[in-house]
Amino acid sequence: MQTVSELDALRAAMAGLRRDGASIALVPTMGALHQGHLALVREAKQACDHVVASIFVNPTQFGANEDLDAYPRQLAEDSAMLEAEGVSLLWAPDVKAMYPEGFGTEVAVSKLTENFCGASRPGHFDGVATVVCKLFNQVMPDQAFFGEKDFQQLTVIRAMARDLDLSRPHASAIVGVPTVREPDGLAMSSRNRYLSPSDRERAATLPRAMREAIARIEEGADVTRALAALEDDLLSAGFDEVDYAELVDARTLEQLAALTSAPARLLVAARIGGTRLIDNMKVGAG
Ligand code: PAJ
Repeated sequence: MQTVSELDALRAAMAGLRRDGASIALVPTMGALHQGHLALVREAKQACDHVVASIFVNPTQFGANEDLDAYPRQLAEDSAMLEAEGVSLLWAPDVKAMYPEGFGTEVAVSKLTENFCGASRPGHFDGVATVVCKLFNQVMPDQAFFGEKDFQQLTVIRAMARDLDLSRPHASAIVGVPTVREPDGLAMSSRNRYLSPSDRERAATLPRAMREAIARIEEGADVTRALAALEDDLLSAGFDEVDYAELVDARTLEQLAALTSAPARLLVAARIGGTRLIDNMKVGAG
């Protein structure tokens, strides 16, 4: 596996990989890799001849009071994991290489970013859309892989690729990969390591309470009541705050007051011991 951290070197390496018409998959990450990230790499490897992974802790998607400085950085360990998965190229730019002096362009996806994580993290999705647009233009992959774990992010990236007529990858070549979970059901996340042992134990209430709410909704219970019960379950289990718990249309992210034939998703964000956890699950035929 080759590692590059400058744009010129990336372009040269990409030209080499593309020789003979090989197909390229991109897996963008912020590092601190776990099995969730590796699931993306494995799917990418199945789909294309070469996998390019990126590791870049993108400052523009972190709010002023968020965990940019504390965000785990472990390039040597991550690099060994990617190499073991057969990744061809690691793109690991520093902040100057990604945002050189004078950088001043932003990609902002409207509507889809108004609610949920967009409401509790102002500017977050502008940072995500901008860096992912740059990564797409830098690598020009045939396909790009993202986790359903960050469902709103996946939806926003698809909209960005469609709206900006990105040809590589085009919107339908953005692949969503199901969430990888710990044995107790908690969605894997680089931020789970911030949890104290007791909060880590309590955190498993999140997927459990979500499954219960989904079962109630699928049995025909009133959605508002099922969501209120979900919030109560989380607060009684020791969560400090529930940012949101909503049933949405899986394509438009519009809130649903009742289950219809449209694919639906339950989206939740909640805080425990200073850590914000997000999760989402399919509801009904999804
Ligand atoms: P990061 O949080 O490192 O996640 C990188 C990719 O891994 C994302 O597509 C995310 O949805 C996916 N992922 C994380 N946990 C997962 C899990 N448990 N199961 C399946 N997939 C999982 O998301 C970002 O980085 C950044 O916002 C990025 C897209 C790289 C832009 O900076």
